[in-house]
Amino acid sequence: MLLHRTATRRSFIAATGATLSASAFKRVLGANSRLRIAAIGVGGKGFSDLNNTAASPHADIVALCDIDETAAHLGRAADRYPKATTFTDWRKLLDGAKTFDACIVSTPDHMHAPISLPAMQLGKHVQCQKPLTHTVFEARQLTQAAVKAGVVTQMGNQIQSHTAYRTAVKLVHDGRIGKVREVHSWQSGGMRWLKTDTPPPAAQVPAGVHWDAWLGVAPERPYAPEVYHPFAWRAWQDFSNGQLGDFGCHILDPVFMAVELTAPTAIRAESDPLNTQVWGRKSKVVYTFAETPRTVANGITVTWYDGEGHLPETKTLGLDEAVNLPKAGSAIIGTRGTLLVPHVGMPSLLPAASFAGTDIEPVPERNHYTSWVDACLGTDVTTSPFSYSGPLTETVLLGTVAIRCAGKTLTWDAAALRLTGSDGANDLLTKEYRKGWEPAWG
Ligand SMILES: NC(=O)c1ccc[n+]([C@@H]2O[C@H](COP(=O)([O-])OP(=O)(O)OC[C@H]3O[C@@H](n4cnc5c(N)ncnc54)[C@H](O)[C@@H]3O)[C@@H](O)[C@H]2O)c1
Repeated sequence: MLLHRTATRRSFIAATGATLSASAFKRVLGANSRLRIAAIGVGGKGFSDLNNTAASPHADIVALCDIDETAAHLGRAADRYPKATTFTDWRKLLDGAKTFDACIVSTPDHMHAPISLPAMQLGKHVQCQKPLTHTVFEARQLTQAAVKAGVVTQMGNQIQSHTAYRTAVKLVHDGRIGKVREVHSWQSGGMRWLKTDTPPPAAQVPAGVHWDAWLGVAPERPYAPEVYHPFAWRAWQDFSNGQLGDFGCHILDPVFMAVELTAPTAIRAESDPLNTQVWGRKSKVVYTFAETPRTVANGITVTWYDGEGHLPETKTLGLDEAVNLPKAGSAIIGTRGTLLVPHVGMPSLLPAASFAGTDIEPVPERNHYTSWVDACLGTDVTTSPFSYSGPLTETVLLGTVAIRCAGKTLTWDAAALRLTGSDGANDLLTKEYRKGWEPAWG
């Protein structure tokens, strides 16, 4: 049975990440059958998040916010949802909190926590894109704030709800590969968003783009075309966490869920040297995890590889050289065999000869978006609540801290939120916020 799937009260609590307070529980169950939704960041992935969520027969899109008023961003969403009130500043949208019940946050990563936190503090249910946050500290804050507010949450790692990833998790939970001994995960594609290593000179901000609002909590820097907004912000340390930040919450998700991981005990990375601006082109991160009910005694390592053409050799995975590894995915190596999990592809059991005649029964997909709406209305649960996606994001982002401390073994005390093993590593768990934009942590 998949983690968080059975709709018992116990798993409902696990899945929502909270024992709901009496008033919050009443709010969920007592809601009428429609959810009023505000969407923040409605271009790019935000547009598909918006449309996929609006596909629920119980959703009303009542407010839209984007710092870019042009056709590809706020313009297109406003045309699609003409009854929604439009905003260019999310703080003004939150001022009208009585007009909506829930919000979708699909901005660049550096603004996830600064927007999701006050939304939850106002009692709003939140669906936030992956990675949940920009820093480890922020991930812990959102996890705790969700519990305190008793709201329904979901991170936008929608591939978790796909048949392929759900089937992979079930195969491990069914014991098909025995106890897990080791995991390797990789993303070997190019980084089309990494265009320059240093900030370009200032350029005129296009009409309709609110650059200061785009920067939000990040330090001031002048606008430059094509390197930050839209999409290319992924390259920059002030806004994102590079390849691992971009893909880790997808590719490591079925690993985390299948093996029931919660937090690493140690992290060590190898990486190209970094400057203080952009993320590197290639890295390898080895996470050590303590034993779980799904692993062999003494725990396991999970090794992450990123960068163009950077993936483990088949012999490192103990696989036949004839096995074609996907460009991105994971090999979950167990005592009875290996589960190869392509990033968005059906898993396979290897070596093929050992599993000849073994059927893989696909697990039906769930709707990651409309199930959040249903969960807000009290009729379903979410599978990636912040109680799950917060620790997953912490793990992913600890890898990016290790990349900044390459060559050093960092030891992680999750309860104390503390790293040892490299001077300054703890400082990298959080960051400075621009004056006037500091989040009000609870
Ligand atoms: N789950 C997935 O498969 C998937 C795929 C792509 C992107 N993402 C995630 O979605 C998020 C957005 O990524 P993207 O590629 O669409 O980026 P993008 O830059 O293309 O789009 C971001 C949108 O948010 C708007 N925006 C920026 N700052 C804002 C603010 N402060 N307030 C309101 N609107 C703001 C931008 O104008 C733009 O419309 C990121 O967190 C990214 O990691 C997830």
